[in-house]
Amino acid sequence: MSGHKIFITEVALRDAHQSLLATRLRTVDMLPIAEKMGRAGYWSVEMWGGATFDACARFLNEDPWERIRLLRKEMPDARFQMLLRGQNLLGYRHYADDVVVRFIELAADAGIDVFRVFDALNDLRNLATTITTVKRLGKHVQGAISYTTSPVHDVKTFVELAVELERMGSDTICIKDMAGLLAPEAAYELIREIKARVKVPLALHSHCTSGFGNITYMRAIQAGIEMLDCAISPLSQGTAHPPTETIVAMLKGTENDTGLNLDVLSEIAKYFGEVRKKYKKFESSFTGVDMNILRWQIPGGMISNLENQLKEQKALDRLDEVLEEIPRVRRDLGYPPLVTPTSQIVGIQAVLNVITRERYKVIANETRELIRGRYGRLPGEIDQDLKKRVLKGEEPMTCRPADKLEPEMARLRGKFPDLGDEDLMVHALFPQIAPKYFENRGKVPPEFDEEHTVSHHKPLYPQMPSTYHVSVNGKSYNVVVENGFVDGAPALNFTGEDAANTGVMFNYPDF
Ligand code: CO
Repeated sequence: MSGHKIFITEVALRDAHQSLLATRLRTVDMLPIAEKMGRAGYWSVEMWGGATFDACARFLNEDPWERIRLLRKEMPDARFQMLLRGQNLLGYRHYADDVVVRFIELAADAGIDVFRVFDALNDLRNLATTITTVKRLGKHVQGAISYTTSPVHDVKTFVELAVELERMGSDTICIKDMAGLLAPEAAYELIREIKARVKVPLALHSHCTSGFGNITYMRAIQAGIEMLDCAISPLSQGTAHPPTETIVAMLKGTENDTGLNLDVLSEIAKYFGEVRKKYKKFESSFTGVDMNILRWQIPGGMISNLENQLKEQKALDRLDEVLEEIPRVRRDLGYPPLVTPTSQIVGIQAVLNVITRERYKVIANETRELIRGRYGRLPGEIDQDLKKRVLKGEEPMTCRPADKLEPEMARLRGKFPDLGDEDLMVHALFPQIAPKYFENRGKVPPEFDEEHTVSHHKPLYPQMPSTYHVSVNGKSYNVVVENGFVDGAPALNFTGEDAANTGVMFNYPDF
């Protein structure tokens, strides 16, 4: 083992509850333990990201900006970390540079210290503005590689990305394994190769969906990893992460000792054990291990949600077909890593391919945009026929997509002259939910009101506004993926005679 301290990032306040509890953990349940978390010895505490911002505004009637400030009061010395989707910020499209810059300034002002930035396609041009801005503000840039496996990805691909991320100014680099695909030996080789080429410390973020998690972390340590993402035990494993205490105890007294205090961790674990019970109704039904993830490459939360939604629409018998179709669509689109927003795009196209019983009979607008280069450069070649059908002779975009976007801030300020910039960002990122959010901010949501406890789980889903015309069994249907949400989910709603029987709601959380 390399003789160095392992730094731990605790993800309980962001990815862990996003993976296990539909991102519903409220600030009120974070504050009582925050002071203790602040002195546990973590390198950083991840507590913000796209889904947490979205869930605060959409479901919790909470001001996401205020959460940062409230937590800061309780843990003044902790490093606060957030996950940022590069030019997509916390949303699902590319934003103009002026929005990206202003957003990062506001986040830094509110108290974010470490910005982990990634692009779903690993098109690093989409990280240029975010990295430059975070650097200018004197904050920590952690450039992230979206890890995947495919015929067009190999160790060399990821090493080159790491070298470029360091060149662009990353203070640390993260291997972001959002679906838990990274096998122990692959991790060892990848980390060794990256470490041979870059000087900045390396972090690993992984999930336990495939069951690799804990073993992969051990092998990563042997390869010289410096930083690991862990979740306090009651919020660990399954679709979440390796447990903090296990990693800390495993390394205790070795040359890789984390320096974390197990007694404090034990108190934090006890607290979250109790808190988790309060969120039982939001729990993912997928909490175990599924090796199929290596083929599907989709996050566990996505499977259970697909399952629930297809069940509700009496279309559960199509689930296996959809799951098998996802890797084929991904291949056709040049093997993008599956992470927001590409995971949603590939998923929706797979559903359309299955329910219409003809592949690409209906091509979603987002699929077209991806093929047109509007999200950036795809890792591999797009299927020739599909490309021809979508482009129809048109040249795909080859520049950085945001180069074609007009500034947006002035227009937003003109439209909402009474709002401060933090509130303006809610409009910029989530225009459909903003009005309801401003109306309900501060009110206890009905799902947390004991008198109105709902029994079913309403997960968090990204917005995918589109309309499709679909013909099923000779009947024509209008399929709408709503601008807003149906029960918190973007829906593929079939309207027509057989609407009740053929509707498919398709959705899943992001990772
Ligand atoms: Co994750």
